[in-house]
Amino acid sequence: MTKQEYMNSLHTAADAIRNACGEAEIGVVLGSGLGDYAEALEDRKSIAYEDIPGFPVSTAPGHAGMWHCGTLHGKKVCMMQGRFHSYEGYDQWLVTMPIRVMKLLGVKTVIITNAAGGVNLDFSEGCLMLIRDFINFSGKNPLTGPNLDEFGPRFPDMTFAIDRDLMALALDVAKEKDIPLQTGVYAWFNGPSYESPAEIRMARTMGADAVGMSTVPEIIVGRHSGLRVMAMSCITNMAAGILDKALSEEEVLETGRRVKGTFRSLLDEVIRRI
Ligand code: HPA
Repeated sequence: MTKQEYMNSLHTAADAIRNACGEAEIGVVLGSGLGDYAEALEDRKSIAYEDIPGFPVSTAPGHAGMWHCGTLHGKKVCMMQGRFHSYEGYDQWLVTMPIRVMKLLGVKTVIITNAAGGVNLDFSEGCLMLIRDFINFSGKNPLTGPNLDEFGPRFPDMTFAIDRDLMALALDVAKEKDIPLQTGVYAWFNGPSYESPAEIRMARTMGADAVGMSTVPEIIVGRHSGLRVMAMSCITNMAAGILDKALSEEEVLETGRRVKGTFRSLLDEVIRRI
């Protein structure tokens, strides 16, 4: 696809979403097991990904494949119930298409969430981790190819990829609400196989606190597009080899469902104060 074709497809998708559900100032990407949060939106309007021209469809378990837009504390918020991963076979420009579409829809702040494996031995299943930095173990970068000057520079800064003020806000909210909130480094592995125990030991040695198969491309593209980015992981399981048991998708989704109340109360208040 040429750059012009890609730009056209972004605008076509944004137009379809705008017509179906309107624009938004805050965008939320809901990860595995966290999709129910979209129910929090008032006056919700929705469109299925399959009805958005040029949009990928969600094939991962726990990803409904719906775009929602509504109001939360008087703010226009859009939520993606389901995201795209490179392990589904999607190229990086498709994986990150929704973030650019959000930008075209007027979004200024994006909150990216995921289910992740805990690498830091102080973590446990069900805890929440605010992402303060990331490691890209995938060998891929979503900005590979011609630069989209309309969105951002060729060599975007990643020192402040995660917005410091949003991090401080989330930590304040967590403290006030007595919600334990860790901060840490999220490492992106491509998947879809879970990491091996040796990879997890390597990741820990190199400074990772959590691992997962998403989010990093979205953070990079969000930063490139000039969005304020906040990112949060739900530690749904301890990563491979830490406990003497096999990892399963069911456990990931089940833990996501278990913490959804806490997750919702934290995000709600963060959004109220943005
Ligand atoms: N590894 C990678 N991705 C994940 C994990 C994990 O342990 N848990 C949830 N998503």
